[in-house]
Amino acid sequence: MSSSKRRKRIGILTAGGDCPGLNAAIRGVGKTAIVAHGMEVIGFRAGYLGLINNDYLELKESQLSGILTLGGTILGTSREKPFKLVGNGGETKEKPEHIIRNYEELGLDALVCIGGNGTMKTANMLAQEGLNVVGIPKTIDNDVWGTDVTFGFDSAVQIATDAIDRLHTTANSHQRVMIIEVMGHTAGWLALYAGMAGGGDIILLPELPYNIRSVCKKIEKRYEENKPYSIVVVAEGIEHPKKGSAASYLAEAIQTYTGIETRETVLGYIQRGGSPTPMDRILATRYGAFAAECIAENCFGVMVSVIDNDLKTVPLQEVGGKLRLVDPNHPLILEGRKMGTSFGDEY
Ligand code: F6P
Repeated sequence: MSSSKRRKRIGILTAGGDCPGLNAAIRGVGKTAIVAHGMEVIGFRAGYLGLINNDYLELKESQLSGILTLGGTILGTSREKPFKLVGNGGETKEKPEHIIRNYEELGLDALVCIGGNGTMKTANMLAQEGLNVVGIPKTIDNDVWGTDVTFGFDSAVQIATDAIDRLHTTANSHQRVMIIEVMGHTAGWLALYAGMAGGGDIILLPELPYNIRSVCKKIEKRYEENKPYSIVVVAEGIEHPKKGSAASYLAEAIQTYTGIETRETVLGYIQRGGSPTPMDRILATRYGAFAAECIAENCFGVMVSVIDNDLKTVPLQEVGGKLRLVDPNHPLILEGRKMGTSFGDEY
């Protein structure tokens, strides 16, 4: 599908839940493609939906200026999964056929898919259908397999840590237990990092089974040690027996067992909003620039990644359908335990 003589024409899309740094990545890909390699760049609107419906805009270099610090994505996003048959959970080729036709009619030489696990799974399936695909990993959950880090994570850690700092002062004033629930359905990276950065007393992750009695004992012990307030940082995805949020379950259980006044905060989508941190701007820019280099070198069917601080490529085939979870023996957990931080499983 590609020609080495004419200018290359590439498409970019952002898919899945948004996060800070998406525009920095779009800019990194686009500017490198245009400035260093003279490529033409288009952006598809609303993730894979734009590719299915041929909904796109030309991205000139001037349109890529001034977006580095912007939150969200100038292209929009959606959770559209083109291979998924709505209803019975099977697979369909109808939407992928539209995608392939649009890709060919637009004369694309490559497609850059910026997203998380679901996006990489679809990107791999499109690569299997013969499209030249390069993936860029993003998510505040930091759970994409095949890379040490995704952009969006550092910004979310910053936001959640700031929230924990603020809860500390009000928890202290009222001598309360404060529960803060952060995002992370399956992976607890955000709870672990923000919890440790914010000095959480108890940190609960989906990967580590906790015991509510242990949580309460820890709070009571702190009380006896003249630490009359406690901060509990919990990932939204921990298992619990009640309907509703993990935070509301914990708040009710802790107040009932300990008799200490307890309040809950669910941080929600604030974690995905606003301007990226400098670290995320750098990471997204590096990923974007590297993805453009991959295209220039006709290296396709890969996701760009960072392993031990080095930019690498990983075959999309290896990434699709996997998750990177927190190892229960992660150094930060072991260090936290030594300092007396509870992970809810001690007693
Ligand atoms: O994948 C990132 C994430 O923020 C999860 O942590 C969260 O549970 C989920 O997205 C919520 O996504 P949605 O935008 O579909 O509500």
